[in-house]
Amino acid sequence: MTLPRPLPGDLAHPFSPRGLADPYPAYRWLRANDPVHFDVTSRMWLLTRHADCVLALRDPRFSAALGQRERVRQDDLPPSMLTTDPPEHQRLRSPGALLMGPAAVRGLAGGIADEVDALLAGLAGRAEIDATADIGEPFATGVLACLFGLPPADLPAFADLARRTSVNLDPLAGPQAASAGRTAMGELTAFLDARADRAAAIAGAASGDVPASPFGRLAADGRLSRAEMLGIASLAVVGGWKPLAEMVGNALHRLLPRPEAVEIVRGDGEAAVLAVDELLRLESPIPFTVRVTTQAVTLDGGTIPAGSRVLALISAANRDPDVFDRPDDLVVTRSPNPHLAFGAGTHLCLGAPLVRHAGAALLRGLLTGYPGLHAVGSPPVWSRSLVPRRLERFTLAP
Ligand code: HEM
Repeated sequence: MTLPRPLPGDLAHPFSPRGLADPYPAYRWLRANDPVHFDVTSRMWLLTRHADCVLALRDPRFSAALGQRERVRQDDLPPSMLTTDPPEHQRLRSPGALLMGPAAVRGLAGGIADEVDALLAGLAGRAEIDATADIGEPFATGVLACLFGLPPADLPAFADLARRTSVNLDPLAGPQAASAGRTAMGELTAFLDARADRAAAIAGAASGDVPASPFGRLAADGRLSRAEMLGIASLAVVGGWKPLAEMVGNALHRLLPRPEAVEIVRGDGEAAVLAVDELLRLESPIPFTVRVTTQAVTLDGGTIPAGSRVLALISAANRDPDVFDRPDDLVVTRSPNPHLAFGAGTHLCLGAPLVRHAGAALLRGLLTGYPGLHAVGSPPVWSRSLVPRRLERFTLAP
């Protein structure tokens, strides 16, 4: 085995505080010089080329079940679709589409439009707006409330649970935070459990004053055990709420300094959807995902032994010049855009149709309703959180 190559001394490790602020120089160096890199700090293999990341996400020799198992929740729920490999994975994913698939999203268009309108109305008259606290988080809460059919009275408790469980995403979370995250996970499951029967009853009724929610359709489906069904529902909250909330600040940070791009996004719905993809390509809230090799795998840049932990560095792949023209620039009209911000292959993000639809609705609404929206105060800094990648204190003025 060849010895691991260290990063040149002037390049910050991408997971160090300095590297988190700007991981792209290190990713660029790795992609060009050591694309199959053994990182002595994390003891993981780092893949930075688009083609290698796609392979790791699609090839069954890279197991998601083994990769995610180290971070599996320590609650009573069975493995989720994110922590299983085929064929078990498909058994969980098919019913999961009832909650998050394209058909569910089509049925929610009106509800999401109402959520966006209410959120924008609430910003009127504000001198300063925090991108995450005032836009991203209420937006994510409103969108997921549509999925789960939650009444307004449930929203504060739901948002609190979603915020507290999201720590489960971050592999850098310390033991105390991780333990609090696991406790919150149990509370979230109980919260959803208490609402599932009513949601299923509404979905089962032939007609009713209250429309069926996607959660109700999932709860009434019957293909899964109750615990499996709740596992899918809670995965949507943990995997969806925070990344959706943080996508907003990340996107506005890149978009607002570019008036010509803002104009395009404001222009029409399809342009806004393309822009959501491009903004996710440039600053993905989920910068990597982990797999474990079930056997030795030889790639162009080296051989990864069996049983190795491998990070598919989505954020590096998304700027691979072999795939993307002007990889570091925002090109809001980019199409096709084969970015990996939603992953690829078997575990491709099931929430992607929802993110595209809701993200485009929010961006258009925001930029139309507040045409002068701009950043104020000191430039925002990137948080030390690895997952999701997010900004701290990004303040806007209307
Ligand atoms: C901007 C927001 C989001 C981003 C960047 C994102 C990204 C991702 C990525 C990269 C994966 C693949 C993980 C892997 O392969 O290991 C994934 C999986 C998943 N996401 Fe998302 N996600 C977002 C929002 C959502 C939302 C809102 C939901 C649900 C409402 C959701 C539900 C899921 C589920 C269920 C999976 C697992 C799919 C499977 O294992 O088959 N995501 N997401």
